[in-house]
Amino acid sequence: MKTVFVLNGPNLNMLGKREPSIYGTQTLDDIGADCRKAGSALGLEVDFRQSNHEGALVDWIQEASQAAVGLVLNAGAYTHTSIAIHDAIRAAAPLPVVEVHLSNIHAREPFRHVSKVAPYAVGMICGFGPLGYTLALQALAARV
Ligand code: DQA
Repeated sequence: MKTVFVLNGPNLNMLGKREPSIYGTQTLDDIGADCRKAGSALGLEVDFRQSNHEGALVDWIQEASQAAVGLVLNAGAYTHTSIAIHDAIRAAAPLPVVEVHLSNIHAREPFRHVSKVAPYAVGMICGFGPLGYTLALQALAARV
């Protein structure tokens, strides 16, 4: 089976407790279980991870370029700030990357309107809560 990585950045381990009016009540474990289920229906093995550390995310993006056929990435706040993650995605080319956000980042504070991931992503899904991860896996499956 083809492997896709689903990588989650800082504070996403707090889902369920963290600002539920914005991020909902599902935990990251719930989302991981949904991703594995959606992946198996699509013929994809999902390797689902989270880190609060920028360097760990960079390491995993590098690993994905060797071990995976695609990447779903919710880089959390690093989306808006991290040149290291931007560079890692560029270096991972031609690995297809689908950017996901639970919330609609364009309807929030101006500093969230900018994404350093988007220029090198196949596309971005935001605003649909946990469903966005399943949609991203569908988009990757159609591409690989
Ligand atoms: C987020 C949006 C980011 O702006 C924020 O920093 C997050 C979560 C989302 O999934 O909506 O941590 O990536």
